[in-house]
Amino acid sequence: MVRRSISRRSLLTAVSAALLTGGSRLSLSASGTPFTLGIASGNPTANAIVLWTRLAPDPLSPDPQRPGGMPTDNVPVRWEVATDEKMQQVVKSGIEGADPQFAHALHVECGGLQPARDYFYRFIASGEASPVGHFRTAPATSAATDRLRFGFVSCSNYELGYFSAYRHLAAESPDLVVFLGDYIYEYFSHLPTKLRDHSDAVAATDLPTYRNRYAQYHTDPDLQRLHASTACLATWDDHEVQNDYADRWSETFDDPRVFLARRAAAYRAFWEHMPLPHSAMPKGPDATITGRFDFGDLASFLVVDDRQFRSRLACDHPPHGGGKQVTDAACPERFDPNRSYLGMGQEHWLYGEFRRGGARWNILAQQQLVADLKEHNDAGQIAHWTEDWNGYPAARQRLLQQVHDSAVRNPVVIGGDIHSFWANDLKLDFEDPKAPAIATEFVGTSITSPGPPYAKFVSWLPDNPHIHFFESRKRGYVSVDVRPKQMDVAFRAVSDVAKPDAEVSTLQRFTVEDGRAGVNLA
Ligand SMILES: [Fe+2]
Repeated sequence: MVRRSISRRSLLTAVSAALLTGGSRLSLSASGTPFTLGIASGNPTANAIVLWTRLAPDPLSPDPQRPGGMPTDNVPVRWEVATDEKMQQVVKSGIEGADPQFAHALHVECGGLQPARDYFYRFIASGEASPVGHFRTAPATSAATDRLRFGFVSCSNYELGYFSAYRHLAAESPDLVVFLGDYIYEYFSHLPTKLRDHSDAVAATDLPTYRNRYAQYHTDPDLQRLHASTACLATWDDHEVQNDYADRWSETFDDPRVFLARRAAAYRAFWEHMPLPHSAMPKGPDATITGRFDFGDLASFLVVDDRQFRSRLACDHPPHGGGKQVTDAACPERFDPNRSYLGMGQEHWLYGEFRRGGARWNILAQQQLVADLKEHNDAGQIAHWTEDWNGYPAARQRLLQQVHDSAVRNPVVIGGDIHSFWANDLKLDFEDPKAPAIATEFVGTSITSPGPPYAKFVSWLPDNPHIHFFESRKRGYVSVDVRPKQMDVAFRAVSDVAKPDAEVSTLQRFTVEDGRAGVNLA
């Protein structure tokens, strides 16, 4: 690890004075600060946190040799964690080098913290201090815990709206926010209705363009506010690389070797811009972002990766790549039991975590709609979409069978991707309306991305009685309040993504009772 090759002692002796006096100044350009991309914290445990920032005085610098307008040398950065917002009671601190190899991103793994405590943090570089951020550590594993409040979000297209939903979620001061994918959009939109431009006017395909895409998103004040206010867990979906990709298979039928090089650049830029540990740093096109996070005896999050290991989409033939609507007769490949949505290795890990059990509520943080969705094609025939769990029915059946057989307590699936709110009962047999729910699913709408056609989807609902709520005309997020006996879920909708000062309201509330799977409208 390059950061570890820098002797802490030599850094301290050589640069402490410069840090504190403002010597060795960066060229801060017009921004006046190296912290234009904000700060973030992630992967909270009972005694540790990952703190993130990236130095970028010129955040959208077009010079690929100097991303962020930074010099090409290593820059020392001091970090501090305190128990007070004024940063007077500093309990942990250190100096780490921001490495040009990683676009001067920092991933500080700070340990030795107390469980279930509020902390504050900041960075100092070149005499400039970052804003002060806040996070809360998890309760000690198995400690009696009576409450956890978290939000989950997905699908924030910068070009298609303002990120008011992030601001409103930050204002709720949750203990945790979970990013479920499409944190960026890699393409450049030609929609006449778009409100903002991706700055480089190209689709991101290589490291400089993915870096600048993430940098632009991190300049957004609402996203900065959310990151600074609360710790996050993060996984990705497709748009962090390319629409509808699966493993090495691109939507555009690229040579898999060429596509893996693109994936490597995209995964690296994701890691560089998220508060992830060094263990998540990609090695070429491979990365590990799957993980388990425990919050006392109350809740466990199982965070999975739906893209890197999945089987190729069923019936994926030129000229039209990506998801499509197919009938059973037209695409029997969809049912192949050798196909996996998570990859067999990740399935094995996940089922082991189910059997391990532990917390009272077990939340599967994944990307896409799990529930069976019978659609009607243009000829009026029953059809399914190939690109979410509906494209992998054998894998979904394995997942649900494992949920059932492991008797994992209170399984709740959260997801995104489909730019609409859903509340569903998950069953071993979706064909039997009387079959009991074995798990509960909540899908959050997008932060900004447009939803699917409302009337068409509503017309399919009579064939899908396990779906209790659907709404695709609203943008927003989901707030969850977990207590031992009940989980409260609120679908929160913003008034207008075209207005930076949009308001928020609650569209619908739900509850899930301890020991009884299934959606209850509140
Ligand atoms: Fe999306």
